[in-house]
Amino acid sequence: MHILLMGPPGAGKGTQAAELKERFNIPHISTGDMFRAAIKEGTELGKRAKAFMDEGKLVPDEVTIGIVAERLAKDDCKKGFLLDGFPRTVEQADALTGILDKLGLKLKAVLNISVPKEDLIERAVGRRICKKCGATYHTKFNPPKQEGICDACGGELYQRADDTAETMTNRLSVYEESTKPLIDYYKKAGVYTEIDGRQPIDKVTADLVATLQA
Ligand code: AP5
Ligand code: MG
Ligand code: ZN
Repeated sequence: MHILLMGPPGAGKGTQAAELKERFNIPHISTGDMFRAAIKEGTELGKRAKAFMDEGKLVPDEVTIGIVAERLAKDDCKKGFLLDGFPRTVEQADALTGILDKLGLKLKAVLNISVPKEDLIERAVGRRICKKCGATYHTKFNPPKQEGICDACGGELYQRADDTAETMTNRLSVYEESTKPLIDYYKKAGVYTEIDGRQPIDKVTADLVATLQA
C-alpha cells in the first residue's frame, strides 16, 4: 500500500497519517518531520533546512529529493508507505516517479485533503504538538483533556516555530504556486482522489479508509 497524502499546510495530513499508519501498518514518512528531527539534532541538514522553514519557503529540491530517496530505499517501504509533504514541486514529483521505478514500486493512491484557504491559518495557529510522542492537538478543534498536556503520554505540548499567521501566509502562497500544480499531475496519472478535509477528523479518516479499500 504505497500512498501519497497531499494537501495544503494545516489540512490534516499528519493527523490522518497517525491513524492510517496504525490501520495499515505502514511507515509514515513526513519530510517536514524529518527536517524538524534534523534541526533538533543540530545536523548540517537541519541547519540548512531551518533557514527555509522559518520563512515558510521550500527547502531546495536537491536536498529534499536526496533524503527521500534514501528513506524509500529502506526495507520497511517494500510493503508500503504513507508519504506526507512530499512531493511539493513538479521536480520532486518527477524524481519520485524515477525513485519508485527503480525500486519496482507503484503508487496505489494520491489522496488530497482539501481545505479552503480561510480555515488553514486558524488550524495552524491553534495547533499544539506533544514534545514526547509527537501527537497533534488543536486548542479549539481537538483540545487535550488538560491544557498543555498530552492525553496519550502526559508530555508537554508546544507550538511549531512556523505556525504563526505571518509564516502561514508565506506557506500558503508557496503551496498555491509550487505544490497545487501537482493536483493535475496526479489526476493525469489516474491515481488522484480528493477528500473533503472540512469534516470532523474521524469523518475524514473514514473517507480516506473507504477510498483505500475500494
Ligand atoms: P510540513 O511539516 O510538511 O508542513 P505543512 O505541509 O505545512 O503541513 P502541516 O504539517 O503544517 O499540516 P498538516 O497537514 O500535517 O496538518 P495537521 O494534521 O498537523 O513542512 C514544514 C516545512 O518543511 C515546509 O514549510 C518546508 O519549509 C519544509 N518542507 C517539508 N517538506 C518539504 C518538501 N517536500 N520540499 C521542500 N520543503 C519541504 O493539522 C493541523 C491542525 O489542524 C492541528 O492542530 C490538527 O489538530 C487540526 N486538524 C486536523 N484535522 C482537522 C479537522 N478535520 N478539523 C479541524 N481541525 C483539524
Ligand atoms: Mg504535518
Ligand atoms: Zn504525547
